[in-house]
Amino acid sequence: MAEKKFSKNILCIGAGYVGGPTMAVIAAKCPHYKVTIVDINAEKIRQWQTDDLPIYEPGLLDIVKQARGRNLFFSTEIETNITDADIIFVSVNTPTKNFGEGAGKSADLQYWEKTARTILKASKSDKIIVEKSTLPVRTASAMERIVNSNDSGVHFEVVSNPEFLAEGTAIMDLEQPDRVLIGSRETDSGRKARQEIVDIYANWVPRERIITSNIWSSELSKLVANAFLAQRISSINSISALCEKTEADISEVAYAIGMDSRIGSKFLNASVGFGGSCFKKDILNLVYIAESYGLREVAEYWENVIKINEYQENRFVRKMIAAMFNTIAGKRIALFGFAFKADTGDTREAPAITVTRKLVEEHAQVVITDPQALPNAKKDLEDILDRVEFEPDPYKAALGTHALGILTEWDIYRTLDYRRIYDNMIKPAFIFDGRNILDHDKLFEIGFNVYPIGKPAQSHI
Ligand SMILES: NC(=O)c1ccc[n+]([C@@H]2O[C@H](COP(=O)([O-])OP(=O)(O)OC[C@H]3O[C@@H](n4cnc5c(N)ncnc54)[C@H](O)[C@@H]3O)[C@@H](O)[C@H]2O)c1
Repeated sequence: MAEKKFSKNILCIGAGYVGGPTMAVIAAKCPHYKVTIVDINAEKIRQWQTDDLPIYEPGLLDIVKQARGRNLFFSTEIETNITDADIIFVSVNTPTKNFGEGAGKSADLQYWEKTARTILKASKSDKIIVEKSTLPVRTASAMERIVNSNDSGVHFEVVSNPEFLAEGTAIMDLEQPDRVLIGSRETDSGRKARQEIVDIYANWVPRERIITSNIWSSELSKLVANAFLAQRISSINSISALCEKTEADISEVAYAIGMDSRIGSKFLNASVGFGGSCFKKDILNLVYIAESYGLREVAEYWENVIKINEYQENRFVRKMIAAMFNTIAGKRIALFGFAFKADTGDTREAPAITVTRKLVEEHAQVVITDPQALPNAKKDLEDILDRVEFEPDPYKAALGTHALGILTEWDIYRTLDYRRIYDNMIKPAFIFDGRNILDHDKLFEIGFNVYPIGKPAQSHI
């Protein structure tokens, strides 16, 4: 009976960083739809039903609370919810494959395929399946072949609707997206399914921001968007190395080029490197696809974006070692920030992982502080837990250290009392600002030896 209250039954498979926030916003904006999120991870589903959500994302709890229990539901009952759904969004993880053919590059589609088979098994009526996960171009055709391999007369239409949200600003990105992209087959049933998805977003997104395309363009656009964003970071980071050699200042260069409207000012902050679960994985995926079509030059071009990122992370550690008299063995170093970016607890592919491991290899004693990411940091470093310490309070983390490394651009690190921190450090005290967020002149005045990215170092030694 309860079902009749709702005009559509929407299901999302995968309650992670994408599935959770995306569906919470759809439910909050569309009280006339029933939105259910399912996951194989029972603990995650339990947490989604509490105020201690499984992910940290500003504004998320408020949105979840608006809709939870009204038209937003969380469940581990995957098959029954598939049976009841009209539209199924799939936002399971699609990590880089780490075994067999394509290992280290291609997407591991095992979770995706398992989901397709579960959908097929549990469906008794026609459904629209929406690819929300980021997938290699042409995955929809494999999905179609699996789900339409039935003789029960049930028809599945596969639509691509990649997600462009950024962690840390996910709610804003979902409420006011630059664009929503929906791709389908250019058949009558494909266009009809596409329109159904357009209708969902049209509840709050201006129509001109909802763009439609053929399904392959939609799948490929997501990979290309991430590749272009990461490429900008690697481009500015490559120039930061040149700045450090020439006394040019990367912030001044970025500002000057960013004023050119053809270039634009976003994504031009030099740093220790990009992280996150998507950029590296999606570029590797693009590289693998290009290689598999024999486009070697295209593959090499994009692979270099990742190589520059690795170079930048390694360069950061080399700079620390060189500045600290070529040895950091036995020295205590505090890392401020472990999340891959501010306003998230996500540490997947965070530069802090590489930096910590390299510092530990050099026998440094590493103390990690972060306002949200310490639980994930402990998991990432579980094989070296005896070599690192975790301390939520940055002042305590800095006690008795030789150096600080700023690895995440959390706002709280901009306004700490660095004089107090300096007073409690071993001298000479070093600060390596891997995000260029601090006032370097002021730190130098306090007494720090200051090493930013892409700017001349200021040293008292
Ligand atoms: N994280 C981002 O910022 C972001 C942004 C845009 C797109 N994406 C893409 O969205 C997809 C999901 O990313 P994420 O960050 O949300 O991943 P995630 O790991 O946070 O969430 C995926 C969830 O899917 C669940 N799952 C896996 N197999 C399942 C199955 N068979 N049945 C039910 N649940 C299953 C997992 O338990 C997990 O909770 C990926 O393809 C990613 O590339 C991510």
